[in-house]
Amino acid sequence: MTQLQDSTAKIKDAEITQNTKDMLQQVKTVTIIGSGTMGNGITHVFAQSGFKVHMMDINQAAMDKALVTIGKNMDRQVAKGALTEDAKQAALGRISTYTDMVEAVKDTDIVVEAATENIDLKIKIFMELDKLCPTHTILATNTSSISITRIASHTKRPGKVIGMHFMNPVPVMRLIEIINGYATETEVTNTIYHLSEFLGKVPCIVNDYPGFISNRILMPLINEAILSLQEGVAGVTEIDTIMKLGMAHPMGPLQLADFIGLDTCYSIMNVLHMGFGATKYAPATLLANMVQAGFYGVKSGEGFYKYTPGSKDMVVSERFQNKSWKI
Ligand code: CAA
Repeated sequence: MTQLQDSTAKIKDAEITQNTKDMLQQVKTVTIIGSGTMGNGITHVFAQSGFKVHMMDINQAAMDKALVTIGKNMDRQVAKGALTEDAKQAALGRISTYTDMVEAVKDTDIVVEAATENIDLKIKIFMELDKLCPTHTILATNTSSISITRIASHTKRPGKVIGMHFMNPVPVMRLIEIINGYATETEVTNTIYHLSEFLGKVPCIVNDYPGFISNRILMPLINEAILSLQEGVAGVTEIDTIMKLGMAHPMGPLQLADFIGLDTCYSIMNVLHMGFGATKYAPATLLANMVQAGFYGVKSGEGFYKYTPGSKDMVVSERFQNKSWKI
């Protein structure tokens, strides 16, 4: 049996072990590092599930904005009867914000790091977390492609470092991809697995290889869509419509790339390209150019589509409306 089959089978078949129960019962306070799109979504689901959540960011204004976003997203759930107004207020009341890491993590049981996707930054954060957190604290990262093993190797607790990869929008998407680093302890995986179920999500355990599973498969699909556009095989609308209506994807790959952020897609393609050393993972030149020019998609206002605040209309960027555009 492979390592993965073995660990997944143990979790599925066995009763929760006493050790895992003990670890789960200890989880009362969770610290989320970063208040961007992923950080605020992760804060939302933990707070809604009854945990005390410390949201930490170096920028207080970003956290104030994140709290407004969480409130609005909870309002959507209230509007459709998925959450009561009282439960919303209680969930919001469980969130505190911190700009000081010492205070944010001093009594925390689990940290989920959702800072910018940058290896040097993540290593720096994990080294600090390792120093400041209580010894029992599990250090999880929401990285979408950076090696868990590499991050863990910069701490003195590599057995307690794990990947907990949420999908955007976090309150809606049911998957959590759990990534075992080379040294992650089985009890830590078990705890994160059962905790994910407690959050109402469906956890899937994978091993630590470039892009894990989600982005090893998704990103080459997106990159191929960009290459097809670059080669003039079809336009933006045609590519997205083919994948939406032909394959029942909720968003076409170019719209999804804009939604994820073209800078993120580019950085993940580079991780795959470098990690596997195979030319099939080379990022499309068009993707590289768009990122270098600051066209990141939804977050910058323009990518393959142009976004107007308050409008849900999908307007193809002027650049790609002319059939004879060049990269
Ligand atoms: N919080 C709470 N609820 C939300 C929400 C949020 N942030 N965003 C959307 N919703 C809810 C809406 O209220 C709505 O609920 P009902 O259907 O119950 O009314 C529902 O989600 C659908 O929303 P919309 O009507 O606004 O729009 P939609 O039907 O187009 O769905 C979508 C939006 C859920 C984002 C859908 O387009 C979709 O599934 N897109 C694909 C998303 C995807 O692939 N995500 C993964 C990205 S990859 C990633 O995250 C990881 C990585 O490593 C790169």
